Amino acid sequence: MRADLLSDTLTKPTPAMREAMAAAEVGDDVYGEDPSINALENRVAELLGHEAGLYTPTGSMANQLGLRLHVRPGEEMICDSLAHVVRAELGAAAVFSGISSRTWVSQRGLLDPQQPIDLMITGAGAYQVNTALVVLENTHNFGGGTVQPLEAIRAVRAATREVHVSMHLDGARLWNAHVATGIPLADYAQEFDTVSVCLSKGLGAPVGSVLVGARDAIDEARIWRKRYGGGMRQAGILAAGGLYAVEHHLERLADDHARARRAAVAFAEVAPGSIDPTSVETNILVMDVSVAGWASAALVAAALEEGVRFYAVGAKAVRLVWHLDVDDAGTDHAIDVVTRLLRSGPTS
Ligand SMILES: Cc1ncc(COP(=O)(O)O)c(C=O)c1O
Repeated sequence: MRADLLSDTLTKPTPAMREAMAAAEVGDDVYGEDPSINALENRVAELLGHEAGLYTPTGSMANQLGLRLHVRPGEEMICDSLAHVVRAELGAAAVFSGISSRTWVSQRGLLDPQQPIDLMITGAGAYQVNTALVVLENTHNFGGGTVQPLEAIRAVRAATREVHVSMHLDGARLWNAHVATGIPLADYAQEFDTVSVCLSKGLGAPVGSVLVGARDAIDEARIWRKRYGGGMRQAGILAAGGLYAVEHHLERLADDHARARRAAVAFAEVAPGSIDPTSVETNILVMDVSVAGWASAALVAAALEEGVRFYAVGAKAVRLVWHLDVDDAGTDHAIDVVTRLLRSGPTS
């Protein structure tokens, strides 16, 4: 028995998804002639309540295109210190767009609207870097799948609007926030100028993300996508997998959330203080295993020997992520292995 909880990016296309991909009509997307890509872009834009969408090979590219639309070289974006755009995109905003960044520090990635509001600097003339963009992440990956409260997002939006600062949402897992709260995708998305969403995480498509925004912004992003080498020609074969995922795998994210919560309850019972199960809102579980005497890397190695794979976040914490390819049996196995290890401690 195996349970691979390393990431929700690991999913393999299902037979039905592969069929949809095999049957996809394609054309040259650089000329705007791939019907499958056009259908995906339109559908995601419609779901998110924006005018237009742009298919990209990765979430990182969708984010980076979004950032560069709003921030001129030498200006700054501000975001949470654990945001994917500053922590895991390898400095792309600085390298490709000359953007500088400042960050605020949060608990579990949860947005306190006052933090970005206090951090923004606008109209400082020749003295200080001008804030052009606030980036939020929903759900928050490294924060542990944290859902951002809509009221907090709205408070930031109201403040940025007053000083003409743009907002970009890294919505790689916005799907999960929507399923966890029942709040329509468009209610979240309308608070932002641009939003990126990933098809290749919990939704289970093999490849791809979509950036949405106003038509003129997306037209400009399309030019930059080509400039970055992201004009993919007959990629409708991939986009069809993404569209299939949106239409068939969205509501089932609730199963991932329930399994993650079930595991959190079991872990909290054997290792009190390692995790607050109520903090597991979606498909990501981050827990402090030092309270059970474990170093994170040692626990990762011990679990791997029993077929349960997950990830060490720093020296004390581990991250487990549920997805399409981990069912109830896999979850039971992970719970058995990890609770046994937490209970016994590292010396057994
Ligand atoms: C929150 C978030 N944003 C963006 C990305 C980037 O996606 P990709 O790996 O497709 O570049 C990820 C990937 O894990 C992510 O977790």
